[in-house]
Amino acid sequence: MRILVVGSGAREHALVWKIAQSRLCDKIFCAPGNGGISQIAECIDIKADDISGLLKFARKEKIDLTVVGPETALSLGIVDEFEKAGLKIFGPAKSAANLEASKIFSKELMAKYKVPTADFKIFDNPEEAKKYIEKIGAPCVVKADGLAGGKGVVVAKAIDEAKNAVTLMMQDKIFGDAGKKIIIEECLTGQEASILVITDSKEVVALASAQDHKRVFDNDQGPNTGGMGAYSPATIVTSDIFKEIMDKIIYRTIDGLAKEGIDYRGVLYAGVMLTKDGPKTLEFNARFGDPETQAILPRLKSDLLEVMLATREGKLSKIRNLEWDDRACVCVVCAAEGYPGNYTKDKEISGLDAAEKSGDIVVFHAGTKKAGNKILTNGGRVLGVTGLGGSIKEAINKTYSAIKKINFEGMHYRLDIGRKAI
Ligand code: AMP
Ligand code: GLY
Repeated sequence: MRILVVGSGAREHALVWKIAQSRLCDKIFCAPGNGGISQIAECIDIKADDISGLLKFARKEKIDLTVVGPETALSLGIVDEFEKAGLKIFGPAKSAANLEASKIFSKELMAKYKVPTADFKIFDNPEEAKKYIEKIGAPCVVKADGLAGGKGVVVAKAIDEAKNAVTLMMQDKIFGDAGKKIIIEECLTGQEASILVITDSKEVVALASAQDHKRVFDNDQGPNTGGMGAYSPATIVTSDIFKEIMDKIIYRTIDGLAKEGIDYRGVLYAGVMLTKDGPKTLEFNARFGDPETQAILPRLKSDLLEVMLATREGKLSKIRNLEWDDRACVCVVCAAEGYPGNYTKDKEISGLDAAEKSGDIVVFHAGTKKAGNKILTNGGRVLGVTGLGGSIKEAINKTYSAIKKINFEGMHYRLDIGRKAI
């Protein structure tokens, strides 16, 4: 089969790496891909949100299955367009991807179908939102309705901070139309976990649990990032908690969507807070998580491409269970100087081969490009160095020793990825 993966980050590198191992995969393309992906797939210079460009390419190259990484393409309706053209694609349709693209849609669905989540109120008027904040006090959480590149959530410790977030989103319009409407919600406390499942809207197969690390510095300090690392399994998710999440969050949501006439096909990702009152949903994503995918896929023994094809055909029931490697996996993100603010580019990366020779290590590229024989930095998050070990502790040790072999000017990374699990 001829496969096209859409996207350019370490998540897409992990997807390409895993799909290329399938006995069904003869040729794999990635659009636009990156320096690391180009070592496995043929990278095509088409942007992930250029739907007509991707469609033209998939037709011309007789692609048998397209797999979508990023949310923007999904929310623009790439799946609907491909299916209209008779092309097979893995991912939810636009109406289903709304679960991620509109936080209001997602919260209203949760309220209607009794999916546990933080209490919330929706606003389209900034003055009313600010009055409400004064009434409920801090801490509280302010969320832009639409997609904001992972920056649309402010967990405010003080009333002024929350009101300022309202000003920025609704009056200064820093996220454009995405902040036209906002949500103000109750601030939850507890540990977070990411639960990803694959569903064809009738059957659900769960992926292994994972935990992301969103802040840039150790001990969850500093500004939010796209994710500085992840590990799998998330040991705080015991089998009882897992079952509760599946019953109360995953199944209720998929069934609720079906009742609304929306068939969800693809990956459903629930960001969950494990509160003292049980697991509550923080957000849904309509795609594979980044960097969770980099920590999950190295543990997956089953053929991912087979699962994706079955999902697309509505025949996930023939898969039932996935096979997992019992070992733990840790992914540590190496970022460019300045990230998550303005960051440097074009720095030469050394030591990649040496790191991968360490055994049980894969280096997924996030923001890199090839220049002759060299690999240069080309993004804020540059690499996801990923290691498997008999325990989380062993995976951590292996991953950090591999990182010591890698270098580029200004490289920084967290030293505590996975430590919460020990
Ligand atoms: P979201 O994009 O909704 O997942 O929000 C991003 C991050 O903000 C989450 O991973 C949490 O760390 C935090 N967050 C979101 N909603 C809440 C909430 N209601 N209470 C506390 N933290 C939250
Ligand atoms: N790990 C967070 C996300 O993928 O949105």
